[in-house]
Amino acid sequence: MFSAHNSERSIYLEYCGDTNNNKVPDIAEIGVQYLKGDGDFRSPESIALLQQADIVVTNPPFSLFREYVTQLVEYVKKFVIIGYQNAITYKEIFPLIKENKMWLGFGFRGGAGHFISNYEDTATANDRKEGMIRVSGVHWFTNLHIAKRHEDLILYKRYSPEE
Ligand SMILES: C[S@@+](CC[C@H](N)C(=O)[O-])C[C@H]1O[C@@H](n2cnc3c(N)ncnc32)[C@H](O)[C@@H]1O
Repeated sequence: MFSAHNSERSIYLEYCGDTNNNKVPDIAEIGVQYLKGDGDFRSPESIALLQQADIVVTNPPFSLFREYVTQLVEYVKKFVIIGYQNAITYKEIFPLIKENKMWLGFGFRGGAGHFISNYEDTATANDRKEGMIRVSGVHWFTNLHIAKRHEDLILYKRYSPEE
């Protein structure tokens, strides 16, 4: 999911494997393919690509996060995606967490992600990175069984009504 906002048609990149045996995906091996439309994730041609996917890794538009996650669940996809932390409270998202269909991933250091961007970053935080924009309050959301999800909860006290 990306766009330079200079075309009505969208492109996608397709890597079909290592043809020169150097174990690295080279530019020559990554074909640029054109979609017929604008690549909206809800369009039939985007859905056809989604159906081929084993795991979806992306940073969807936050304004469409609920719809995007609903589509991933509908098509029974494994995913690792970025969203706003407070998305856990959305009425479409909370039930997925409650029903063990999605959980929080590993998160970002200091609760802020850094994304390559042409925008000037005016953030005052001391972890600014050149050529990147700092977005706070973001988190990874996933349905992959990561180790963090299977850690034991260390219990150290018994329940006491007074306390
Ligand atoms: C937060 S950016 C992430 C861009 C890129 N995936 C990355 O990680 O750098 C979200 C992208 O979703 C695109 N987008 C917005 N609405 C969309 C839609 N309905 N269908 C597909 N992509 C969309 C935007 O153009 C934008 O490039």
